[in-house]
Amino acid sequence: MLNLVLFGAPGSGKGTQSEKIIDRYGLHHISTGEVLRKQIKEGTELGKIADSYISKGHLIPDDLMLDILRQELKSLPKDCKGVIFDGFPRTIPQAVELEKVLEEYGTQLTGVVGLEVPEEELVARMLKRGKETGRADDNIETILNRLKVYHDQTEPLKEHYQGKGAYMQIDGLGDVNAIFDSVVKAIEDK
Ligand code: AP5
Ligand code: MG
Repeated sequence: MLNLVLFGAPGSGKGTQSEKIIDRYGLHHISTGEVLRKQIKEGTELGKIADSYISKGHLIPDDLMLDILRQELKSLPKDCKGVIFDGFPRTIPQAVELEKVLEEYGTQLTGVVGLEVPEEELVARMLKRGKETGRADDNIETILNRLKVYHDQTEPLKEHYQGKGAYMQIDGLGDVNAIFDSVVKAIEDK
């Protein structure tokens, strides 16, 4: 199986590049942010809890996120060629648990695609999307919190994965297709 983590700050292009990787390799997409936004839209209990964190730009607690991951993995198709984890893991305990869960499925992580984009560009992309789509956490106050949370809690994972030789650093600034070419090259060189 080809199992990839799409890693990067809010607005770095994880969702955009995931779609393109899925088209190329036929993988299954697990975007924890999308799962949570769907629950919010449907007004479920989980959605109400998720909304209280997402609206502030905070992370959902690990134990809840890990239940969601296990639930999502249950619905994998039988002939699954691999999974893209988009926005997961975001903490060291999530990363440790992901390794365990993949082992239970008799598979492992192939690599981590790390999209690196300067902060000014991240803010500009999210503000633009906020205006165009109304995504609720794309307002300046929440964006700045999301970036702080990223630096404090998620960025340390880069070193974690570098230590395992799994991190593929990608320049995430510029043309979407050119970035995708770099992603494909990194995956195929792995
Ligand atoms: P999540 O949904 O994962 O959001 P995020 O990490 O904040 O990232 P985004 O979805 O905003 O950006 P992206 O990197 O996918 O970029 P995109 O392709 O959309 O998480 C949301 C919240 O859910 C979290 O804050 C947290 O509360 C909670 N959560 C989720 N997972 C969790 C977990 N594991 N643990 C705990 N809590 C969790 O691109 C962004 C914009 O830029 C788009 O408009 C796009 O069109 C544009 N764009 C993309 N590429 C380019 C380019 N090359 N040039 C110009 N524009 C571009
Ligand atoms: Mg996304």
